[in-house]
Amino acid sequence: MTPDVYLNGAFLPLDQAKVPVMDRGFLFGDGVYEVIPCYDRHPFRLADHMRRLHASLDGIGLSSPHDDAAWGLLIEQLIARTPWDDLGVYLQVTRGPGPRDHAFPVEVTPTVFLMPLEIKPVSPQALAEGVTALTARDNRWLRCDIKATSLLANVLLRQLSVDAGCAETILLRDGWLTEGSASSVFIVRDGVIITPPESHLMLPGVTYDVVLELAREAGMACEVRAVSEAELRAADEIWLTSSTKEVLAVTRLDDQRVGEGRPGAVYQRMLAAYQHYKYTTMRGKTA
Ligand code: PDD
Repeated sequence: MTPDVYLNGAFLPLDQAKVPVMDRGFLFGDGVYEVIPCYDRHPFRLADHMRRLHASLDGIGLSSPHDDAAWGLLIEQLIARTPWDDLGVYLQVTRGPGPRDHAFPVEVTPTVFLMPLEIKPVSPQALAEGVTALTARDNRWLRCDIKATSLLANVLLRQLSVDAGCAETILLRDGWLTEGSASSVFIVRDGVIITPPESHLMLPGVTYDVVLELAREAGMACEVRAVSEAELRAADEIWLTSSTKEVLAVTRLDDQRVGEGRPGAVYQRMLAAYQHYKYTTMRGKTA
């Protein structure tokens, strides 16, 4: 049975959750979202996700319909209704219904939707062997820092890798690495972990922050700086990070072997640190 979802004030079965066709989320993709992983029924890095939600809402000029305490309670109630211990909470806020006019409606009643996502653990094969990726030109808009529901460019870019049998599309803008279609990207060169700095050209990933924190705590060399296409292609290791993928090694890029063609030593160290961190931070917490 599918667990309940939350829509505008009520928890209800998914098939009863209906949004008017005049909702600006439907007509314009005028909304923002978060995906919050939860382990042992506790949201992971909730404060970071809330901060990014508020930044996204600010970015589209929409006031948050709830304060953080109320968001936290909704998330807690949603988790309590699912049978899963590990899950993702999908949270979306749109500018709500209104006449079909690009300009914001005078009266805004945001639509608030939360649903649980079953997080499938990354397969043992993907962890052991890594995954394949291809590159594409980053043709998205210049506000990729907003976690907007208008994801058409990301959807089309992601489909390129699906059609090629790859796990992700890694994006290059003017010869520089930005991110994946739905993930952040790190490279390793001569033992140094390198990733592009946050900017309007990429989403500020929560997992990206965790990985950088863990690297610094463990004394692993890391640099946050622009990564050229040539560096990406010559990397010893490439990693994808996201709330659902966690940390995943890319072992083939555009049909070329990355490094030795298997998850590298720096990756193995980071993966162990990440797995350890994710459960130890959850232990003894209340949501
Ligand atoms: N996507 N960049 C993009 C474009 C993303 O869509 C995501 C995550 C990330 C990684 O962010 P985080 O570490 O906070 O999950 C980077 C989510 C999971 C999604 O759209 O389903």
